[in-house]
Amino acid sequence: MSERAFDLEHLDAEHLRRIADRLRTTGFTEDGVRDRLGIDDVSAIRLDAYPYYINERLRRRDRLDIAILLLLLQGVIAVEEMESLFEREDRKLLKEAGILLAEKSTRTYRAAVSLYPLRDRLFFTDHRFRHMPWIRSRAPQDPVMYLGADSYYLARTTIRRRSRAVLDLCTGSGVHAILGAAHADRCVGVDTNPRAINFSRLNAIVNDAWNAVFLEGDLFRAVGGERFDAILANPPFVPSPVYELRYRDGGPSGADVLRRLIASIPDYLATGGCAQIVTHLGEREGESYLDRVRRWLSGANMNLHALKV
Ligand SMILES: C[S@@+](CC[C@H](N)C(=O)[O-])C[C@H]1O[C@@H](n2cnc3c(N)ncnc32)[C@H](O)[C@@H]1O
Repeated sequence: MSERAFDLEHLDAEHLRRIADRLRTTGFTEDGVRDRLGIDDVSAIRLDAYPYYINERLRRRDRLDIAILLLLLQGVIAVEEMESLFEREDRKLLKEAGILLAEKSTRTYRAAVSLYPLRDRLFFTDHRFRHMPWIRSRAPQDPVMYLGADSYYLARTTIRRRSRAVLDLCTGSGVHAILGAAHADRCVGVDTNPRAINFSRLNAIVNDAWNAVFLEGDLFRAVGGERFDAILANPPFVPSPVYELRYRDGGPSGADVLRRLIASIPDYLATGGCAQIVTHLGEREGESYLDRVRRWLSGANMNLHALKV
C-alpha cells in the first residue's frame, strides 16, 4: 500500500462530513459504541472478545451494529448490510476515497481503515489488529496509530482553555490538534510519517477543524521559531532495540523521542503556556521520573506535575 492513503484533492469534503454526521446519528459516537459493545472504554476493544461482541452485543444487526463491525472490528459485511448502512452515493465516495473495499465474488465489503469515535468526533486510523491475515497482506509499512488508551487519556486530561496557538507533536491521526482546534485560533500537528499527515488532513475535514494544519517533520523542527500556548504530545514510548513501527518504538529505553521533545519545550512554549505529554516512564531506584524530566529540561524554570494511572 502506498504511503499516502487518501487523495484529498479530489475528495468531496462536504459529502464526507455528511456521511460522518449520519454515522453519528446512528449512534456511532464514543458513548454509543461503548454502550453497544458493553465495554468501559473504546480503547479496551479486545480481539479475543470478538465472539462475545458479535454473538452477544451485535445481534440485532441494526445500522449501529453494522457500522461497529465494519469500521471498528475490522469485520466483513454482506452487500445487503452495506446497503442498509450507506446510500449508493455514500458508498461510491467511500470506495473512491479508499475507505471501503468491495469484494465482488463474495458480495461482501470490508473497510481499508478503521474509524475511532472520541466523544462525537471521528478519526480514521490504520487498523489496530494487524495480524489478521487479510490485513497483514495489505498493511502499510508505517501504519497510522489507532486511538489507544494513551490517546484517550491525553484527550481527556488536556486543559482546554482558549488559546492562540496549540501544537500537537507526534500527531498520528491528528487527534489532539483536531480537538484543540475547538478552543484555539490555530492548531499545528506534526509527524514524521507522511501517511499520518495524510490521515490527519482527512480527519480535519471529517471533523470540520478548518483551523488545524499538519506538517511533516521531526518534532519542533517543522514549526520554525513560533511559540505555543499549549504543546500536546503522545510520542512513541515502547522500549525497543529496533525501529520497526514509528508510532510505537521509542528506542532501547523507550524515551528517545520523549527526551528530545522535553529538552526543547522551553524554546517553544509561550509565557504562561502549558505542555502536556502522555507517556510510560518507569521509576528507577534513587531517581523519580520527575527528576529525569527535570534533567532533560536542563534546569529550565518550569512547574512539573504528573498524573499517574
Ligand atoms: C504513539 S503515536 C501517537 C499518535 C496520536 N498523537 C495519538 O495520540 O493517538 C506516536 C506518533 O509519533 C510519530 N513520531 C515518531 N517519531 C516522531 C518524531 N521524531 N517527530 C514527530 N513525530 C514522530 C509517529 O509517526 C506516530 O504517529
